[in-house]
Formats: sequence, C-alpha cells, structure tokens
Amino acid sequence: TPKIVKTRSELKAAIAEANPGSLGFVPTMGALHDGHASLFKAAREENELVVISVFVNELQFNDAADYSKYPRTLDSDVQLAAGAGVDIVFAPEAQEIYHAGLPLIRLNSGALGEMYEGASRPGHFDGMLAVVAKLLHLADPRQGEYRAYFGQKDAQQVVLIQRMVADLDYAVQLRSVPIVRSEKGLALSSRNALLNEEQLQAALVLHRAISLIAGRAARHEPLNLEDAIGMFQMEPLVELDYFVVVDPANLQELAFNCQDTPFTGEGLILVAATVGGVRLIDNQPI
Ligand code: PAJ
Repeated sequence: TPKIVKTRSELKAAIAEANPGSLGFVPTMGALHDGHASLFKAAREENELVVISVFVNELQFNDAADYSKYPRTLDSDVQLAAGAGVDIVFAPEAQEIYHAGLPLIRLNSGALGEMYEGASRPGHFDGMLAVVAKLLHLADPRQGEYRAYFGQKDAQQVVLIQRMVADLDYAVQLRSVPIVRSEKGLALSSRNALLNEEQLQAALVLHRAISLIAGRAARHEPLNLEDAIGMFQMEPLVELDYFVVVDPANLQELAFNCQDTPFTGEGLILVAATVGGVRLIDNQPI
C-alpha cells in the first residue's frame, strides 16, 4: 500500500528517503477511476518512484456549490492507487497548499485560457495553473529524472500546462495519456457519477458525434460539422456548448477544413456539452 503524506515536509522527506533515479508524478483531485489509474500505470512503467496528489483545488472552481459538492473519497482513492502501484499519495489540506489564505500572486493562462472550457468557466484555468505550478515544485525530486502525467481527456489543460512548463522553464518532462472510455464510449469522468441511467445513455452522443467526424477525416472526406451538431439537436437531455475542430498544437479553430472541402492534415475534435447540469467534455485527434 502507498505511503500517505499530508504535509509538504513529509512529502519532501519521503521522496528524499526513496532517493529515486526517476520520479513520475500524477496530480489529481481524487474521486479516482480507471482514467486516473491509466495515468498511474503509465507513470509506474517508466519510473522508480510514483507519487500522486489528491487535492480538490478550490482556486479552479468558478462555482462554490460545485466545489463543495465535489466527491471526496480518500479511502477508496488510496485503494485504487495501491492497485495501480502508486508509492506515495500526497493528500494535503487546503491550508497546507494555500498557507495564509488564497495566493496574492497568480498565473494568467492568457487568451487560450479564455477559450472553450475557459469561456464557460471563467478563472478555471488560472486556478488550475496556480496549483499545478506549486505541485510540480513540491513533487520535484531535485535529482534524477522527473516526469509528470496528464490525461488527454482534458486537452486544453494539457496544452496550457505544456506552455507553462516551457514558459517558466520547469525541469519536468510532460507525458499525455490517451482517454479511457466506458465500454459504450463515454469518456470516464468523476462527474459521470452524477448522471442517472437515462442521462448516461443520452451522453453517448458526444462519442457518436466525434466518431462520425473522425471517420470522415480518416477517409479524407469533407467534415461537414453541422451533421455532428445536428446529432445533439436530437438529444433533448443534452445541451451542446461547442463542437469544433482545432489545431492540436495551439487549439486555434480550423475553419477551412471543417466545411465541404476534403479534410487534410491534422486536427483535434473538441466537444463540450451539459447533461442535467453536469458538464461533460471529450476530444479526439484526427
Ligand atoms: P482530475 O479531474 O482529478 O484529473 C486528474 C488527471 O486525470 C488529469 O490529467 C485528467 O486529464 C486525467 N483524467 C481524467 N479522466 C480521464 C480519462 N477518462 N482518461 C484519461 N485521463 C483522465 O485534472 C485535474 O484533476 C485537475 O485540474 C488537476 C490537474 C489535478 C489540478 O487540480
């Protein structure tokens, strides 16, 4: 079973004691599922020591009710972590991370942080970067190799963290891990637990719409995104926020490739929708 540490100094001591040649770090907000487990396993495969954090970061919630509702399940999280070969679970209280209240100095995620997820969740990405910036320091082994793992499920988060690490010269290698889905294709998410049977069924439209467009892209056909958008209009329980094809490197929209011209090159389909007030996101490279 993993060692559970609550404070920064305990974390530092546990890492120093292990003195690993390589450390893989996976930050999470807990309520762990098989999507998280695949990150832990990816870290396990290429590192001597695997450290995860479980911390529900108040700063990245733009909605106070969403923050207080967020599931906190540390006991079962530790079990799942044990099954995936995690060595250390860092599970701090808020005051351990945000010492004397919330921080004065904040990171700004720039224009990219205001698009897509950022447009619907103002401040979310600034708050996410604030905690990832700190956690990447706290888990840094200072010697040996240092890698951090993020899920491709949160594609915009991955691009922003890549930019932060480059812009601020963090000495960590980033790895992005493919999306883990249910048998029927729904991307696993801690929020899926908030959906009933009927809503779960309706939520499959995200994957169906993505698959339609990904199939056309693979055949170099015109993408005609309005057909995918039309699939959402036939699901009364699902409210579409955006369905776009973007450049995977910078997430700028690829308008030309999405109309009635044959698709060429590379893209990333991004979709977000709400089902019964629960926000769901998904994506797929094409
Ligand atoms: P959380 O939502 O707990 O996710 C932790 C990591 O698991 C993220 O990198 C996320 O992309 C990944 N993940 C979640 N569901 C996945 C799935 N179905 N397949 C693959 N990976 C999946 O993302 C956060 O927490 C926070 O923003 C955090 C980075 C911890 C900062 O607070």
